[in-house]
Amino acid sequence: MLTSSPGMVQLACQTLRSYRIFPEQDLLTHAGENANLSSIGARPRQARPSRMEANMKDIEMKSNLKRRVWVEINVSRLRANYAKIAAAVKPLKVLCVLKANAYGLGVMPYAAALAETDCAGFGVAEPFEALQLAGGKKPVQILSSILPDEIEPMVAAGVTLPVIDLPTAKLISTAARKLGCTATVHFKLDTGMGRLGILAADAPRVIRAVKRLPNLDCAGIFSHCPMAYDPANEFSNDQIDLFCAILKDVARDGIRFKTIHIAASDAINNFPRAAKRPFTMVRTGINLHGSFDPNGRRALNVVSVLTLKTRVAQVRDLPAGTTLGYGRTWCLAKRTRVATISAGYADGLPLALTNRGHVLIDGVPCPVIGRISMDYTTVDVSRVPHVKPGDEVVCLGGRGKYAITPDDWAALKGTHAYDIICSFGNRVERVYCGR
Ligand SMILES: Cc1ncc(COP(=O)(O)O)c(C=O)c1O
Repeated sequence: MLTSSPGMVQLACQTLRSYRIFPEQDLLTHAGENANLSSIGARPRQARPSRMEANMKDIEMKSNLKRRVWVEINVSRLRANYAKIAAAVKPLKVLCVLKANAYGLGVMPYAAALAETDCAGFGVAEPFEALQLAGGKKPVQILSSILPDEIEPMVAAGVTLPVIDLPTAKLISTAARKLGCTATVHFKLDTGMGRLGILAADAPRVIRAVKRLPNLDCAGIFSHCPMAYDPANEFSNDQIDLFCAILKDVARDGIRFKTIHIAASDAINNFPRAAKRPFTMVRTGINLHGSFDPNGRRALNVVSVLTLKTRVAQVRDLPAGTTLGYGRTWCLAKRTRVATISAGYADGLPLALTNRGHVLIDGVPCPVIGRISMDYTTVDVSRVPHVKPGDEVVCLGGRGKYAITPDDWAALKGTHAYDIICSFGNRVERVYCGR
């Protein structure tokens, strides 16, 4: 067992210093992101960076230091994924879902890359996300809900809004009249998601009433499926049938929509009928990143756009009987060369990789031994004995049979790829390559 020594105290001091050098950073103020604002014609965020954020940017620019952990996002793969999705659903249009900062990967670079495609627009969850993108080349649409005090600024910004009930539609209509414009809206129907929107039973009545309101362009109608990852489950088919019945009902009064959509990535892969007429558009988020729900089909040949990298902090030959990390969950059976790498669960490595996952060094799989800690992970480097401090480590990504995808990590963690992709820490630099 390792005991505390002056050397270890020194190491702890170095670790503390490295925290001062690599403070946590607000991803949204990353220079690389703002650099792309003008290319999509969007307005920069109004908030001024705090003194602390400015200091951090300053440190980053002046120090010329390499980050300890970074995620490389391959932009040409992202566009290739988009192209595969678009080809699969043609002639339907594709709305790219960039909510939650493009699932944590950087909304502005994603928008800049996708603005060059023929996508129908960008889908977001809430007003701040909408404002980041509004005014650019592509229409922006809130997919979830809108609150009364949010309506006027959203109408002024030209954001397409969801109609989740009649009172909301009236407020949108009033705001548009006040601003002297027409607000574009999509009816959001709850056909079984049980979360937000107009209940199916009320939909024909509400749609008819909203259609009579002034200053509204009722351009679209949509719904969302909670079970579409399971092709054997009939619930999604029932939802599609119900949705189509509502369309037919209101069509009797001549009410038709330009944009009709129900499919997100799960339905695109598992329910092809959700990506055919009468639908005119699909929405996709997770497939753009090259991942899937763990349970469904992988009909689209999209590939992961992500590579998470770090650097080796130290390499040591440790004697048999040494236990590694918190909880002493791994005990070396023989003398072993162990590398401590500079990434941990604060960077997005799931704790579930403990004693199970592997990383790649020079393309060679190196098993994780010992519990993942916040900033560091210990790996067996017996097969790459030449490894030294500063060397690059691929935690996620790579090529060939040892490549590791967010979906692999999700399987180890017993979760889905959304959870993995949204969990890269703030200090993980987002690097956009392959433009
Ligand atoms: C209404 C709506 N549409 C589309 C999406 C995108 O889903 P996915 O990432 O599975 O394509 C989401 C994501 O949760 C959503 O809430």
